Amino acid sequence: MSMQGRMEEEKEVWILAIESSCDETAAAVIKDGREVLSNVIYSQIELHTVYGGVVPEIASRKHIEKINQVVQAALDQAEKKLTDMSAIAVTYGPGLVGPLLIGVSFAKALSFASGIPLIGVHHIEGHISANYIEHKELQPPFACLVASGGHSHLVVVKDYGEYEVIGRTRDDAAGEAFDKVARAIGLGYPGGPKIDKVSRQGNPDAIHFPRAKVGESTYDFSFSGLKSAVLNYLNGCRMKGEEINQADVAASFQKAVVDVLVEHSMAAVREYGFTKFAIAGGVASNSALREALAEACNKEGIEFYHPSPVLCTDNAAMIGAAGYYEYLKGVRHGYDLNAVPNLRLGE
Ligand code: KG4
Ligand code: ZN
Repeated sequence: MSMQGRMEEEKEVWILAIESSCDETAAAVIKDGREVLSNVIYSQIELHTVYGGVVPEIASRKHIEKINQVVQAALDQAEKKLTDMSAIAVTYGPGLVGPLLIGVSFAKALSFASGIPLIGVHHIEGHISANYIEHKELQPPFACLVASGGHSHLVVVKDYGEYEVIGRTRDDAAGEAFDKVARAIGLGYPGGPKIDKVSRQGNPDAIHFPRAKVGESTYDFSFSGLKSAVLNYLNGCRMKGEEINQADVAASFQKAVVDVLVEHSMAAVREYGFTKFAIAGGVASNSALREALAEACNKEGIEFYHPSPVLCTDNAAMIGAAGYYEYLKGVRHGYDLNAVPNLRLGE
């Protein structure tokens, strides 16, 4: 049957989505791309906290242990059976190769056993698509800032599944900087939410940390210099025997990150003439960033879109939303689908 014929016959599209690229084992059932029937997330954070970061081998083992239950729970909560699904969507990159392989292998086995088509999804495309779930009216084109533990991208979303990355980080991702600075000031892992919380008690103008410019590239980011500046500041205080105000350091660091993210985002919006701007990824749940972007977008007279925090950090609902648009385009993967740890967006 032709794609068109199949689409007409199949009025509702049900996607079972699986995500395992880092330390969350997640599965979700999504109807017609934007309606979440279930969104099950097993977070491994506590397991990794003692090591101060994600240990890939431990993550892989836990994914193996949990994936069956998590997928079953997603189907049960949605009150659906595997055979009700139109497709199985799975994150195949970027991410940690071991963890990715668990999700990809599991999805391939499910697809092979049931005959339900398989769709590989780009993790970042998933993050961006979280906005479609939260904002039913949102349609491309728009600009999106994707800031997570592994990525800081400014993306032009030209159409569903069509992206152009116009800015990226030259070194650390924004979330990585949050995690490293949190460790240095004794807040532990994961750093982002902890810095966010502590900063509310601090003065963001107490210490001036640098806002990095990357040569001629208006939209590229660099956060490793900022991280070093914080470490140097802490060392300086210790050498002089001065007390460190954790909340002030956190708030001042956070402000430096937020300033750069907002400035570059608004420069892109102006240059490209966008009327819609969205954010995505774990760092998009940062309260100071959300406030600053809401204000900046308001000033520019553009619409600001942001997913709720649970859809910002890793989840499978967002993979289901992205998978749906791939499904409509006719994308289907074979059983040779492999995990691609450094999969690029828009290429
Ligand atoms: O998107 P995500 O769950 O995983 C990746 O794909 O990387 O992002 C996790 C990152 C971590 O670095 C975490 O510290 C950061 O997002 N993060 C935050 C906040 N919540 C999570 N950063 C700043 N403020 C937050 N509230
Ligand atoms: Zn992510």
